Amino acid sequence: MDYSIRTLRADEWEKARELRLAALQDPVAHLAFLDTYEDAVERPDSFWQERGAGASESGDGSVRPFVAEAADGRWVGSVTVLVERASADAVFGASAKVDQTHIVGVYVRPEARGGGAIDGLFRAAVEWSWTLSDPVVERVRLYVHEDNARAAAFYRRFGFVASGARVTLESGVSAGAEEVEYELPRPGA
Ligand SMILES: CC(C)(COP(=O)(O)OP(=O)(O)OC[C@H]1O[C@@H](n2cnc3c(N)ncnc32)[C@H](O)[C@@H]1OP(=O)(O)O)[C@@H](O)C(=O)NCCC(=O)NCCS
Repeated sequence: MDYSIRTLRADEWEKARELRLAALQDPVAHLAFLDTYEDAVERPDSFWQERGAGASESGDGSVRPFVAEAADGRWVGSVTVLVERASADAVFGASAKVDQTHIVGVYVRPEARGGGAIDGLFRAAVEWSWTLSDPVVERVRLYVHEDNARAAAFYRRFGFVASGARVTLESGVSAGAEEVEYELPRPGA
């Protein structure tokens, strides 16, 4: 299946909300996301509108979502790239030691899994990371729950390797479990 991979416009917040709420209802959502459906579904439209505006091309450039869109216009998956400057506090996990990007919100609808959408999304996310000039990023990182075998298998297939860093979750349904950091170094670094 062919998907077009693209960034989001600010006015697409309703489609972004629908995809996010679908992701949060996935059977492995408790392994995949820190947010919960119960919290997200209660948020007002203004939350999604501000999130859409901040992450669109008109935002400050520190957040860049990508969606995979089927020929009929349906969004089948998405990832979001966060730019993390060295020493800045991270949204999740250890503070950045180098300038880097961090991929979060990784999701493909069940009916599209195994169909290549995630490869296209990751190619776009990683290529965008290497094009950044302020800062030039040294690596792309992400975290995966120790029990999320399918996601981890994809990350390894794409070329990510475990960095050795781990974070123990302190709250939520997965409290006590570990998130494993994976990284993809800049080519030639
Ligand atoms: C993670 C996700 C985006 C990956 O997309 P996908 O289309 O399912 O990925 P693929 O099928 O291309 O690749 C998954 C790999 O895991 C393998 N796999 C499938 N089920 C598996 C399982 N239960 N255990 C281990 N490996 C598994 C597949 O065979 C494939 O490996 P291969 O390419 O070497 O054959 C998607 O599964 C998803 O949205 N999952 C729910 C949300 C989630 O977990 N997000 C990640 C948070 S870190």
